[in-house]
Amino acid sequence: MSNLPRHVAIIMDGNGRWAQQQEQPRVKGHERGAEVIRDIVTFASRHEEISTLTLYAFSTENWKRPKVEVDFLMKLLNRYLKKELPIYLENNVRFCAIGDVSGFSGKLQKLIRETEEKTAHCTGLTQNLALNYGAKDEIVRAVNTLQAEGRVVTSESLNSALDTPQSVDLLIRTGGDHRLSNFLLWQAAYAELFFTRTLWPDFTSHELQSIIDRFKSVERRFGGL
Ligand code: FPP
Repeated sequence: MSNLPRHVAIIMDGNGRWAQQQEQPRVKGHERGAEVIRDIVTFASRHEEISTLTLYAFSTENWKRPKVEVDFLMKLLNRYLKKELPIYLENNVRFCAIGDVSGFSGKLQKLIRETEEKTAHCTGLTQNLALNYGAKDEIVRAVNTLQAEGRVVTSESLNSALDTPQSVDLLIRTGGDHRLSNFLLWQAAYAELFFTRTLWPDFTSHELQSIIDRFKSVERRFGGL
């Protein structure tokens, strides 16, 4: 039996280099990257085997970037959420933010919550957008939640206290680097990792499908024989 890519997670890297190649400012790469998100979410929503798609949009470390780039990403997120709501609804996609969104402005937090609420009834794909997300931060927050509730920390209780409990089947990183960059470290314990040199703004649903086809033929043993 072939593997099912139920939870696909993507590190969307390479926006800046794409823009440089086009002799454009870095932010143009982010703009194009946001358009690619739409294509990939739509594709995943029509792919019966995928139930969750988690995309890494802004890490806990991304605040270190120049203020003008961070400000641009915040504005882009604002624009993205407003523009994408009808697309989410049309494709029966439930939007969820993972990460510590309390780090964002009140206005952005409200928009994130509204997008979650307005798509909460959607039963197709769940699209997690990782925002002010870091896996170490997620695990620490989960442990603190359990402690505050007086619960014992076990693998199961910790898993359930995470922002997203579902284990990752297929983790893809675009942009040519081979690292996890503090993304879903717990959930990706047994994920199959695929790295592509394609820069995120050039990534297509066609390439995603070909990665899924390769993933399906991998033998997953989960520590067994
Ligand atoms: C990495 O490219 C990309 C990010 C910082 C996160 C991904 C952001 C987007 C896809 C666009 C914004 C999306 C939303 C929803 C607002 P990089 O800048 O690190 O590229 P580089 O490695 O070539 O410099």
